[in-house]
Amino acid sequence: MSTEPTHDVLPVNDRERSERVLRALAPVSRLLNRVALVMLREDVGGQGRHVDPDAPGAPPPATARWTTAHAAAVASPTMEHFRSALRPVGGGTEREGVLDDLARYFSISSEEALARCLDWESASLQEWEAAPRDSVDGIAGFYASATSWAFDLSWYNYLQVSGTGYPKSVIVADRLRIASGMRVLDYGSGVGATAQLFAALGCEVTLADVAKPLLDFARWRLDERGTPARYVHLAAALPVASFDVVTALDVMAHVPPEELRGTVEAIHAALRSGGLFVTGFDVRRKSRRNAWHLYDDDLPLRWEIARAGFRRADLIDAGVWIYRAGSTRGVRGRAHIAWAWVRLASPPARLLRRCRRVVARAGLTVFFLVAARR
Ligand SMILES: C[S@@+](CC[C@H](N)C(=O)[O-])C[C@H]1O[C@@H](n2cnc3c(N)ncnc32)[C@H](O)[C@@H]1O
Repeated sequence: MSTEPTHDVLPVNDRERSERVLRALAPVSRLLNRVALVMLREDVGGQGRHVDPDAPGAPPPATARWTTAHAAAVASPTMEHFRSALRPVGGGTEREGVLDDLARYFSISSEEALARCLDWESASLQEWEAAPRDSVDGIAGFYASATSWAFDLSWYNYLQVSGTGYPKSVIVADRLRIASGMRVLDYGSGVGATAQLFAALGCEVTLADVAKPLLDFARWRLDERGTPARYVHLAAALPVASFDVVTALDVMAHVPPEELRGTVEAIHAALRSGGLFVTGFDVRRKSRRNAWHLYDDDLPLRWEIARAGFRRADLIDAGVWIYRAGSTRGVRGRAHIAWAWVRLASPPARLLRRCRRVVARAGLTVFFLVAARR
């Protein structure tokens, strides 16, 4: 019998060791991410410049920090539909498709399109600060004229297929088991990629957006690719009781408080009874670079959603929720609203939220200070 130690004979190099450590720490990292995302919103510096995954020295996708749903989406057949939604009609890569769409639509070179994608935030800030935005009309003026988000959202779609961005549309489609024949409204549809994905899965899709420049660009992209769809330029009325699913991904935090109730009620009315509303709350701590994120707390958003009759059905992942459209009538309807008020809108609920945020911030600060000293 051998008395040799049973160690691996090959030396473990540093890279393998650090990958092993990262993998072991992944659950902790995900937990911290979740806390930071949902509770703290400390990022006052905005999103910053987008990365270019193909640039020399660009960091590889941080796979150790992916949630389970993120990893599943990357490997899912649905991701292929999302990829093909971005590719050029005549064939090519997703990157070429995204840059070619922007270059042709805005009559600029691909190089300029790339520069505007990466620097979208500075451009958006300029567009935001071109006029006062402290009123509903001021905000409406931004969406009526801004073009920087076409570059931001297009590039973020590319980042999703290149492994850097969070692939929310694919995660949602897989989780809802989106199937042929479903009627889906994508509310706040941006450049239309989520709607394209649902259409590729056989749904009847409608795109709605308050931003005419974005809706026009989305329509042009879908028409180019022969994707049938309907379009609603908000605030035009949505069709009533017409959809099985409404998605509003990264939208609600941009709806002005004065319009929130009407917006949620219109979405509720657009769904058939029992239909699903999928949304998340991209709330951020207020700062100049986060100016278009109008909420730093998700409580008011969740209250209006509950108040309109939605019941929380499930958490999809990383703060994206599924709600089911229910009634506000009868004893059960009134009890639902009363309980939602207690949890989300009553003075004790709001006080608790404020304390929770302060305690969580203090706790995380101590954690990072201690970690930095080691
Ligand atoms: C961050 S983008 C997200 C776009 C798209 N849902 C996505 O995931 O790529 C926010 C979108 O919401 C739209 N939006 C902003 N305010 C809105 C409002 N009050 N009603 C409807 N859409 C709105 C914007 O024009 C933009 O298309």
